[in-house]
Amino acid sequence: IWSFLNIEKDPITVLVTGQIGYALVPMIARGAMLGPDQPVIIHMLDIEPAAEALKGVKMELIDAALPLLKGVVATTDVVEACKDVNVAVMVGGFPRKEGMERKDVMSKNVSIYKAQASALEQHAAPDCKVLVVANPANTNALILKEFAPSFPEKNITCLTRLDHNRALGQVSERLNVHVGDVKNVTIWGNHSSTQYPDVNHATVKTTSGEKSVRELVANDQWLNTEFITTVQQRGAAIIKARKLSSALSAASSACDHIRNWVLGTPKGTWVSMGVYSDGSYGIPSGLIYSFPVTCEKGEWSIVQDLKIDEFSRAKMDASAKELIEEKSLAYSCLN
Ligand code: LMR
Repeated sequence: IWSFLNIEKDPITVLVTGQIGYALVPMIARGAMLGPDQPVIIHMLDIEPAAEALKGVKMELIDAALPLLKGVVATTDVVEACKDVNVAVMVGGFPRKEGMERKDVMSKNVSIYKAQASALEQHAAPDCKVLVVANPANTNALILKEFAPSFPEKNITCLTRLDHNRALGQVSERLNVHVGDVKNVTIWGNHSSTQYPDVNHATVKTTSGEKSVRELVANDQWLNTEFITTVQQRGAAIIKARKLSSALSAASSACDHIRNWVLGTPKGTWVSMGVYSDGSYGIPSGLIYSFPVTCEKGEWSIVQDLKIDEFSRAKMDASAKELIEEKSLAYSCLN
């Protein structure tokens, strides 16, 4: 009787580049990124040496018989990959190899992101939303913005939701509460070890109402030291344990990032996103910096007027300083 309500939505085309694609594409194709009733077309882009493996991933997607999946393109051609995409998740980048200096990695990634920026600018759908995951994520996103000048800057973001979710996870473990009851942590700054995970406004839902995390943890020493370093170093700890960088949690938080951006954040809840600074909280504009944001109707806005104490200020500024240095390093690679 309700079948007349089942009007199928038009598919959304999602581009995924690079390595964690194997963890990410099944999540997208099962609705974790855009909703359980949203059909998707997936474009996968990788480099030539990975072409055969990419074909294998396409075969597996077909074999999974996924009802939401309306099409798959597996390609090494950046133009074909970017054609008409509505959402682009940029995981591909040049990894740091033994003996490479930071500048060498930066220089490789700057040229990759420059090329991909032009392809996206020319071939993606208007209003395409971009999420950069590959490190150095904030600076890669900035390069993308610079070389896709007609792209609205509000449409280019980088992933710090992974760090945000890690912070929620640490608080939940410490307090022995469910992670779904913890909210409003903030990641400020760079997706690097200078990031500042801030719990000053975070709360936990308890049977007697919302309580502040600081009140419940009652151990400022832990919150001001070990908690921060654990979140800052979590990526490295995963690499040490797995001998590979995070994939499952990175893919899951990339889905969270896009889902909240497109479908909105719940009332009273904010998330962390790396976005183009407008000067909020005294962070220089011209940087991609992680802020607390809420999203509505497909647009993010930075949460304003949070009280910032001296301890936080110093940490927020230190991460901004690192981003300024990365930016100038990236520009020196362009010359
Ligand atoms: C992570 O946070 O897990 C990654 O950014 C770590 C890395 O260097 O790949």
